[in-house]
Amino acid sequence: MPLIFEHDKPLGPLTTFHIPARAKLYISFENLDRLRQITLSSEFLENEIFILGGGSNVLFKGDFNGLVVHCKIMGVKKYQKDNSTVFAIAGAGESWSDFVAWTLEEGLGGLENLAGIPGSVGAAPVQNIGAYGVEVGSLIHKVECFDLLTRDVITLSGEQCRFGYRDSIFKNDGKGRYIVLRVSFRLSPSSEARNLSYGPLKSLEQELGRAPSPKDVAQKVIEIRNSKLPNPAVLGNAGSFFKNPIIRIYFYREVMASLYQNIPYYETDDPYYIKIPAGWLIENAGLKGYSVGGAEVYPKNCLVLANKGEATAEDVVALADHVKKVVLEKFGVTLHPEVNIIDTDIKVTILGSGTSKGIPEVGCYCPVCRSEAPEDKRTRCSALVETRGVRLLIDVSPDFRQQALKAEITSLDAALITHSHYDHVGGFDDLRPFCAGGNFSVYLRKDVNQDLHRRLDYCFREQLYPGVPSFDMHEITDAPFLIKGVKVIPISVYHGKLPIVGFRIGDFAYVTDAKTIPEEEKEKLKNLDVLVINGLRFKDHFAHFTIEEALEVIRELQPRRAYLTHFCHEIGRHNDFQAKLPDGVYAAYDGLVIHTH
Ligand code: EPU
Repeated sequence: MPLIFEHDKPLGPLTTFHIPARAKLYISFENLDRLRQITLSSEFLENEIFILGGGSNVLFKGDFNGLVVHCKIMGVKKYQKDNSTVFAIAGAGESWSDFVAWTLEEGLGGLENLAGIPGSVGAAPVQNIGAYGVEVGSLIHKVECFDLLTRDVITLSGEQCRFGYRDSIFKNDGKGRYIVLRVSFRLSPSSEARNLSYGPLKSLEQELGRAPSPKDVAQKVIEIRNSKLPNPAVLGNAGSFFKNPIIRIYFYREVMASLYQNIPYYETDDPYYIKIPAGWLIENAGLKGYSVGGAEVYPKNCLVLANKGEATAEDVVALADHVKKVVLEKFGVTLHPEVNIIDTDIKVTILGSGTSKGIPEVGCYCPVCRSEAPEDKRTRCSALVETRGVRLLIDVSPDFRQQALKAEITSLDAALITHSHYDHVGGFDDLRPFCAGGNFSVYLRKDVNQDLHRRLDYCFREQLYPGVPSFDMHEITDAPFLIKGVKVIPISVYHGKLPIVGFRIGDFAYVTDAKTIPEEEKEKLKNLDVLVINGLRFKDHFAHFTIEEALEVIRELQPRRAYLTHFCHEIGRHNDFQAKLPDGVYAAYDGLVIHTH
């Protein structure tokens, strides 16, 4: 059967937020053969992809300029392993709540605490859905996926899924790589419910006068859900908008508990960390019912942001930003969305735009170094790239700590390193705050990795001094790679004679410290919306493009907009220099924010 792609597909009805947005292209699949066929089409290969399940945890921030692939694999079955275990298997496209109801009708216990959760079976392992004392990861036997890299069907065991709180391999290394096809759950034929640990379930036995069955628990859970959570069919929402923040116990005891009484908390598997209910923080920050446009903090449960009817995605994002800001100011705790905010636009923050000595240069009293204009204060080069909810740092300048404070960077997913010169990696130790939740991922070439192992040997020893930063070093080649579903294309360039790397992400590219770009690499820099490229000064330099050389590259590549960076003081004052640049070419400066499109 030929593939029929729908154009300009309305996405509002396919998500529980019911917020209008459109996809450039849309197609659904009911089986593996169809999925294989889709993944070989030019529509799939040439576009940004989003795999849609039940749409219960997603917010499209504007139209999706790519292909939405909707999983509709159906079917449920069970088989008995032994007297105490029955496996139940469901297609990823099945409705989660219908599947749970089916398991209960079949006399199978295990999933009752997770009754009534909107969304699809395929999304359950991705999100590691959890409620009322149970996380689905603890019941997952295996997950069958299509691996887009190898084009094979693979089976991941529960352990291989690396489940964490609202987290799994599918949100990390596997994002953009694995498409969930079917999920198998390890359930029990027992007539007694297993988990009554959550507050209101504890009294169920007493209320009923007998040991509660899985069905009793499901009924109670649905009652609690109905009283606390708005029905998405009536009021658009995506359940909890934020994750419950995990914070250091000493911060709770020594700072928060001394200022505020009775802040509830949950223990975690790590004795040094606790989880605080974000709903409590939002309510106690005075935000109950607060609204922006058509979006409101749901008064009966502040963890939910609801669409009162006419909300736009901008309203929801502005409301979420406001909530984050007020909670951070009041409690010193950063909230992170658990809703997947989908955006094909890219936001780039130029954190530093100066060459290796920065501007002002120490000991220099030239008019540029003495200038009071903020644009003339240039720290060493690095940039923050944000897209599809992923935050990537390009280079870790020696000024990174100040840059992170100024740009209020509270979370990062990974760093991309262009080369190992000190002005691009000198701030590595200041990545420590970003290593708190586990090793911090760094993408770099093999030679750069070896250099950093030498220079930062204290981070890679057998016996580590407590508190040193911990990294996962991912060696890259010339091949494109994925970071949490974001495709990064390395661009090989020469810094004098030294081979180094630039990066293309969507229609944005960042090339610094280049003197030569080989012709075949220039092909990878065609059709850009935004190019950031180095231009050191007017006078020749053996390892950096001059301004004229950079302009020549821009003329050849014809990005829609280009930004020069990595300046020394010889370019003059920012405003004078900008006036000399042709249309569509801008001088970057520290703090500059660029949006693609
Ligand atoms: N609270 C408030 N004000 C509010 C909301 C909550 O003070 O507006 C307080 C409650 O009184 C309680 C505490 O916060 O002391 C916890 O509330 P609740 O038991 O409702 O659970 P939660 O931690 O807010 C999590 C999940 C829910 C899940 C419930 C029940 C997350 C992000 N959310 O919420 O999951 O249903 O536990 O187990 O972990 C979802 O993921 O979409 C979702 C709804």
